[in-house]
Amino acid sequence: MRKAILAANWKMNMTVEETATYLKHFLAETGDDTDVEVVIIPPFTSLAKASELIADTYSLKLGAQNMSAHKAGAFTGEVSATMLRELFVRYVVLGHSERRQLFGETDALINAKVRAAHEASLKPIFCVGETLEERDSGQVETVLSRQLRAGLAGLGDKEIQETVVAYEPVWAIGTGRTASPQQAQEAHAFIRGEIAGLTDSGVAERVRLQYGGSVKPGNAAQLLSEPDIDGALVGGASLDPRDFAEIVKAGKTAKPR
Ligand code: PGA
Repeated sequence: MRKAILAANWKMNMTVEETATYLKHFLAETGDDTDVEVVIIPPFTSLAKASELIADTYSLKLGAQNMSAHKAGAFTGEVSATMLRELFVRYVVLGHSERRQLFGETDALINAKVRAAHEASLKPIFCVGETLEERDSGQVETVLSRQLRAGLAGLGDKEIQETVVAYEPVWAIGTGRTASPQQAQEAHAFIRGEIAGLTDSGVAERVRLQYGGSVKPGNAAQLLSEPDIDGALVGGASLDPRDFAEIVKAGKTAKPR
């Protein structure tokens, strides 16, 4: 049994004030249902406010959008795992395609961050996914395999089990073009197989896999009903508390868990 995990990646949106308004509306829509795990991932500047506002809930967890691989020191502009832990952050998005493409993050750097997160007991939401050119040239499995092997290198079984892997085809992010449920399921099944190869099938069966890329209230239920899709990492649609609440509801009802 894998508990559904729905995450709102706000990216570079939402001031502190907007965060407070959003959470009030979102909680009014969804209540606090422990059947699913909901992760709110605001920008760093809103983490403290969000942490305070969700402190009394059971189902809402806090996530960060990035983290330094270093523990502390002269790294201007960076934020450490300890700083995130102080605010009761539980999850951290690592390897997002925007970090890979716009900020030059390599597989090796992402692996260092994934390991640093586990060392600090933060759970990575580790993102993988192919570009359109890679899909069109038949390289989906090669790319996913490389990203998984590099990103999860050096982790023990327990750490891999506590990592959430997000399959985010780059061509579907922010484009309105979603992977079909079949395309997504195929990639998820492949990812689970690769994880089984790195650990064993028991561990792989317990790892939660999220789909990300233009998830909306209108397509969430279908995606989440696929056997290997255990949740969603939602960008654009998570900025509207009602839309994200709808997606969370889809996660509760899409399939028996
Ligand atoms: P999107 O973003 O839902 O806006 O496509 C998803 C993501 O980048 O995590």
